[in-house]
Amino acid sequence: MASQMKQWVLAKRPVGLATVEDFHLVEVPIPNIEEGQALVKTLYLGVAPVMLRYMNNETEFERPLHIGDVMHGRGVGRVVESKCDAFKVGDIVQSKLRWREYAVIQDEPYYLTHTMHNTDLNLSYGVGALGMNGFTAVLGMRDICAVQPGDTVLVSGAAGSVGSMVGFIAKTLGAKTVIGIAGGEKKCRLLTEQLGYDAALDYKSPGLYEKIDKYLPEGIDVFFDNVGGELLDEVLGRINRRARIAICGRISEYLIPPEQYHRPRNLYRIGLKDAKMEGFFIYDYAKNHHEYEHQMAQWIREGKVKPYEDISVGIEHMPHALISLYQGTNGGTRMVRVDPSAH
Ligand SMILES: NC(=O)c1ccc[n+]([C@@H]2O[C@H](COP(=O)([O-])OP(=O)(O)OC[C@H]3O[C@@H](n4cnc5c(N)ncnc54)[C@H](OP(=O)(O)O)[C@@H]3O)[C@@H](O)[C@H]2O)c1
Repeated sequence: MASQMKQWVLAKRPVGLATVEDFHLVEVPIPNIEEGQALVKTLYLGVAPVMLRYMNNETEFERPLHIGDVMHGRGVGRVVESKCDAFKVGDIVQSKLRWREYAVIQDEPYYLTHTMHNTDLNLSYGVGALGMNGFTAVLGMRDICAVQPGDTVLVSGAAGSVGSMVGFIAKTLGAKTVIGIAGGEKKCRLLTEQLGYDAALDYKSPGLYEKIDKYLPEGIDVFFDNVGGELLDEVLGRINRRARIAICGRISEYLIPPEQYHRPRNLYRIGLKDAKMEGFFIYDYAKNHHEYEHQMAQWIREGKVKPYEDISVGIEHMPHALISLYQGTNGGTRMVRVDPSAH
């Protein structure tokens, strides 16, 4: 085993969108483990829009990140040494590995570590379809929106990691029409040609709301929202009776100060239409992890969910991978294969 490893530390706080200069790649010795710990070789690391907020210590659920600390993040790895009963050498784990080639983990709730069961499928799925983003799609679409046969479904952020799985799930549950919103022609083609959407609406070209009316003339039964802001407000203006809205994210407002947040005018329609709108956070549903894994693995094996991945090879690519989420240059689940030999 090598004696040195690479890791990314926070060099400075980002101003607006992060830049490569906000991070610093350093080489350090691979750590020794103590009693109760395991050493994990990182195979894949995911990126998520929320990481920009970790860099500014803006979330309540992640430990503070100081300048010089290793960047927070989840990934998939193989246990290579263990002094902990919970993890055996050879186990494939999903955990808060952080942006580093080897990670020390402990059997503590903070790490939200799960041993992957379906390791015959691609291990990269542990970052996407069989990880937090896939489970977010199941929780939002199957459990919170409880899609019924015949429903009309609209999804924002549809070509991203979560959105790329939401459309498949809606169709699998019997939705009549599933429409995705994404930025640009290329992503819209991806939605209809590879991600199971019936139609795609480009929010970067004019007339988005007219297009929603055209494609969903009967109104909206289910809205899975990754974007928030004005779009959510406009959708509220078009919901049907007993509509269900899953508030998954609000990326359109992550980089602006609260005084610039859109003030919705159509909230009254939740009451008027006896609708439900619910926010949720996947970490609160950790106890369901293996049920979600089983469900998604089954749908993948049946060809009902086709994971779409956007993979760079080499830990050097981590900052670019994160920045791409805000530039919209990713498609499906953006991740980095840290160990080039991982399958
Ligand atoms: N509730 C939970 O537990 C949970 C769990 C995971 C993720 N999330 C949230 O779910 C959302 C999607 O996460 P993800 O990991 O799947 O990311 P992602 O969708 O793979 O990447 C972000 C996408 O957002 C779009 N975007 C960026 N800036 C935007 C803007 N100003 N307005 C509209 N769209 C913008 C871009 O797509 P376009 O090119 O199409 O604009 C980009 O590709 C995020 O809001 C995230 O915070 C929530």
